[in-house]
Amino acid sequence: MRFVCATMHQSVLAAEVVAGLAPRPGGVFADGTAGSGGHAALLAERIGPAGRLLVIDRDVEALGRARERLRPYGAVCVFVHGNYGDLAAHTAANGFEALDGVLLDLGVSSDQLDTPERGFSFRADGPLDMRMDASGGPTAAELVNRAPEQELAEWFALYGEEPAARRVARAIVAARTAAPLTRTADLAAVVARAKGGRRGRIDPATQVFQALRIVVNGELDALDRGLEAALTLLRPGGRLAVISFHSLEDRRVKVCFRRHLGRWEALEAGGESWIGEKPGVTLLTRKPVMAGATEVADNPRARSAKLRVAVRKE
Ligand SMILES: C[S@@+](CC[C@H](N)C(=O)[O-])C[C@H]1O[C@@H](n2cnc3c(N)ncnc32)[C@H](O)[C@@H]1O
Repeated sequence: MRFVCATMHQSVLAAEVVAGLAPRPGGVFADGTAGSGGHAALLAERIGPAGRLLVIDRDVEALGRARERLRPYGAVCVFVHGNYGDLAAHTAANGFEALDGVLLDLGVSSDQLDTPERGFSFRADGPLDMRMDASGGPTAAELVNRAPEQELAEWFALYGEEPAARRVARAIVAARTAAPLTRTADLAAVVARAKGGRRGRIDPATQVFQALRIVVNGELDALDRGLEAALTLLRPGGRLAVISFHSLEDRRVKVCFRRHLGRWEALEAGGESWIGEKPGVTLLTRKPVMAGATEVADNPRARSAKLRVAVRKE
């Protein structure tokens, strides 16, 4: 099955998400990263009029698209403009309890990437913004122009795994001394010069843009909090599906699931003790599920997508 939503964003691993979350009529679900509502529509379709779906996105424009896409499902969907890291607060505020499933499809959507004014893309020039929630918090330009060189280098190394992190940070500080960097094209050009231009398939600015986006949006903190909240909010047998797009995200998902895998250990005094974090989970698949060649050919963004699904134990 291939699913293309009404806008430009193509939902990745759609059939695999549905298989992993196994939505049934009357199910109660949360989509923490609604985007254009593609995956959410598949869930809404399957849970039917007796189901409930909490639809969250921190980007108001995305939430607007999701609302439009999900209009046919009426009151089944409840929309929240917020951070999925605060999932517990959002479910409590909207009367959602004991979830059957949670979906987190991480990162930015093609709609965000392809809108130069949002400042996510090094391919098209736009203001150096990168905030998913444009209603507050520092922009990428503010961070790039005021962070100390050492901190920039740390971000690029840690969150972009950029081998030339120090050289790029030095070049940014030299460039901003002459004039503040305010456009994505300015930053991309500084990074490309510092790295000596393009080598291979990947644009030289890819990792620096990834790092800044992660910092601007506190993405890894939201992920850590969202994963723990989701596992706590699931009913026994409920499922958490996470799609990640780079190794930093996938590693965190894997480590979190592993901490909750746990095991029962026999006690000398008799009985058993749980070794691991609660709630316990089982993994639906040991290895992450990845897109097949046909999906990747159709949607290059799917190339790096990895889906992991955990099932909460009783
Ligand atoms: C890859 S897109 C999701 C696409 C969606 N699954 C679909 O089928 O259309 C990721 C979305 O998650 C949102 N997002 C990312 N981090 C978030 C967070 N911490 N809280 C809420 N929304 C977030 C982004 O604004 C973006 O719209």
